[in-house]
Amino acid sequence: MTNPLVLASGVWGLTGGNLVRAAKEGAGAVTSKSCSLQPRRGYGNPSVFHWDNAVINAMGLCNPGVDEMLDELRFAIKNAGVPVIASAFGNSFDDYARMCEKMRSVKPALIEIDISCPHHEPGKKVAKPFACVARDAAQVTEVSKEACGKVPLCVKLSPNVSDIGEIAKAVEGAGADAICAINSVKAMVIDVDARRPVLANKVGGLSGPAINPIAVRAVYDVRNAVEIPIIGTGGVTTGRDAIAMLMAGATAVGVGSAIAFRDRVFKRIAEEMEIFMRDKGYAKLSQIKLEE
Ligand SMILES: Cc1cc2nc3c(=O)[nH]c(=O)nc-3n(C[C@H](O)[C@H](O)[C@H](O)COP(=O)(O)O)c2cc1C
Repeated sequence: MTNPLVLASGVWGLTGGNLVRAAKEGAGAVTSKSCSLQPRRGYGNPSVFHWDNAVINAMGLCNPGVDEMLDELRFAIKNAGVPVIASAFGNSFDDYARMCEKMRSVKPALIEIDISCPHHEPGKKVAKPFACVARDAAQVTEVSKEACGKVPLCVKLSPNVSDIGEIAKAVEGAGADAICAINSVKAMVIDVDARRPVLANKVGGLSGPAINPIAVRAVYDVRNAVEIPIIGTGGVTTGRDAIAMLMAGATAVGVGSAIAFRDRVFKRIAEEMEIFMRDKGYAKLSQIKLEE
């Protein structure tokens, strides 16, 4: 990677063209929108709402299904010129294994599994996300890792847990090669004039600058629990936010909602990081650490 900035999943990566554009705009790596075995319509509108310093969304993981996404991924892998990360989710352990098997066929740089969504096997009631129960997180990692073959596996964790370090340890123990932390924070916004939630789904995920301190704390907790690389994601909008992620223990830095807040966001964050490093006398990223 020419810089440590990774386009986060779902924000700009539904098509191969968008992934290529993010790379051209300066992302060091790009992640595709999470997809599933079957196409999903997602939730109705309003599904995204953003204000001064945050975004809330309940898109409902709309996607055209893995077979169509594979074409988008092939296009991105051929044209982006940066590593492409393929993101997958499913309803069951078996779904995740089948998704990883399909995705490895296009040889992405990394397969990322989004395990933060509620899941339900046909006929069963909706269960807690795999990311919220250490045993489930380990099991989904194990089956996915086996299905990934030679492609390394990144597991994306949820902040909506009491001890993210425990979950991180479980997925590392089950064979994860990297961790992405964090997904969006469970939230709700109410329009008091209309006396109803702003999102059609009522509840959604909060992202953007407002969640940055939550993400930094989560990455710090994950770093204290595991040795594997971490893509620190959540509210990174400026070079200083990205530096804070690295100081918390991240290896690379995810950027998602910031594209709604700043133009040329990847180039500007990278430039701000460079200026910070020059001013403080850092020669390489690995020197960026908290004071002992
Ligand atoms: C509109 C939107 C859609 C998202 N879709 C996905 C998704 O499909 N898969 C996933 O793992 N994360 C998804 N995310 C979460 C982001 O990848 C990221 O983890 C989160 O937004 C925090 O980072 P940010 O504050 O930089 O956006 C989505 C976020 C937003 C705002």
